[in-house]
Amino acid sequence: MYNTKAYAVASATTPFAATTIARRDPTEHDVQIEILFCGICHSDLHQARNEWSGVMPTVYPCVPGHEIVGRVTKVGPAVKKFKPGDLAAVGCVVDSDGTCAECQAGLEQFCPNFTLTYNFPDKRSGGVTYGGYSDSIVVTERFVLKVPSNLDLAGAAPLLCAGITTYSPLRHWGVTKGKKVGVVGLGGLGHMGVKFAHAFGAHTVLLTTSPNKAADAKRLGADEVVNSRNSEEMQKHAGSFDFILDTASADHDLNAYLQLLKLDGTMTLVGAPEKPAPVSAFNLIMKRRRLTGSAIGGIRETQEMLDFCGKHGITSDIELIPIQKVNDAYERLLKSDVKYRFVIDMASLK
Ligand SMILES: NC(=O)c1ccc[n+]([C@@H]2O[C@H](COP(=O)([O-])OP(=O)(O)OC[C@H]3O[C@@H](n4cnc5c(N)ncnc54)[C@H](OP(=O)(O)O)[C@@H]3O)[C@@H](O)[C@H]2O)c1
Ligand SMILES: [Zn+2]
Ligand SMILES: [Zn+2]
Repeated sequence: MYNTKAYAVASATTPFAATTIARRDPTEHDVQIEILFCGICHSDLHQARNEWSGVMPTVYPCVPGHEIVGRVTKVGPAVKKFKPGDLAAVGCVVDSDGTCAECQAGLEQFCPNFTLTYNFPDKRSGGVTYGGYSDSIVVTERFVLKVPSNLDLAGAAPLLCAGITTYSPLRHWGVTKGKKVGVVGLGGLGHMGVKFAHAFGAHTVLLTTSPNKAADAKRLGADEVVNSRNSEEMQKHAGSFDFILDTASADHDLNAYLQLLKLDGTMTLVGAPEKPAPVSAFNLIMKRRRLTGSAIGGIRETQEMLDFCGKHGITSDIELIPIQKVNDAYERLLKSDVKYRFVIDMASLK
């Protein structure tokens, strides 16, 4: 084991503070990465504050961060795809059994034996996993991704969660030219959803609680912007959407959005608010609508998404912060005051 610098919370109510954590020395198949940039996902906030206690209670101290981009510093003898000096990226999953039906299908995010990047039992070193608010990380080669060299590295970091979490369901549900697609929320996930839906050729509509984001949304690729708190504006779009991607992080009324779907339309939840949300059966029965969910994406699809972004020059719109500002960034996330992803410049941790 070796020691590395990190930022951690000691409880659900304490702010982040500098600390030191132990990582395993790279073994045969491991890649050791010096972290250069790490995005701040709203999932980091949910877990730092134990808001998902019913599903995955937080173990403290907690070091979040699963939008990791960095440079390889060391590789184990069996590693083939990476060598020291290469750029590398890590997302939300750092290990899986590799043998179950889901893994065989390239859907490691649904493996019953996966290991999440942080706040998850660490099968290799014991204790829990620690994420990217840290100087370095050691990850088995199968879960390390290649970053296209033309992309801005800080702007590429959020692709590892916000990017793949929106790319995957838009692909899965066949979002293409000729489809009318809604994206709920213009935060980290939402702004990537708008960029991808636009890149896939769909008529893209942002459904927002922040009408002051309208000009940005259009710049990012939205054809229309709807104030979701204005029922008249919402009513104009009733029964008209093929697909809606719901990225909202706070509790909200799903029924208001379900009504906007047309016959056989689909709404996919990727946002994971703290409390369960009631759904009116009639909103699904009428028009045979579907309500579904989606979790990040598999390793193969994540690489496909990164390559797509390289080809089309897509990165996240970010606000780069030193790690000392992480507590402020969390408060701003809660106010939907983010344009449109905070990314930590890990040079500030040195
Ligand atoms: N399924 C997965 O695999 C996965 C992966 C990553 C994250 N997540 C979850 O996805 C959610 C979003 O994450 P994020 O990092 O994108 O968060 P974020 O940057 O904080 O963005 C969330 C956005 O939700 C909108 N919003 C907030 N309150 C709302 C309300 N009451 N009604 C409707 N919209 C509201 C806001 O956009 P407007 O200002 O435009 O309204 C806000 O900017 C979180 O719950 C996170 O845990 C899930
Ligand atoms: Zn995330
Ligand atoms: Zn598996």
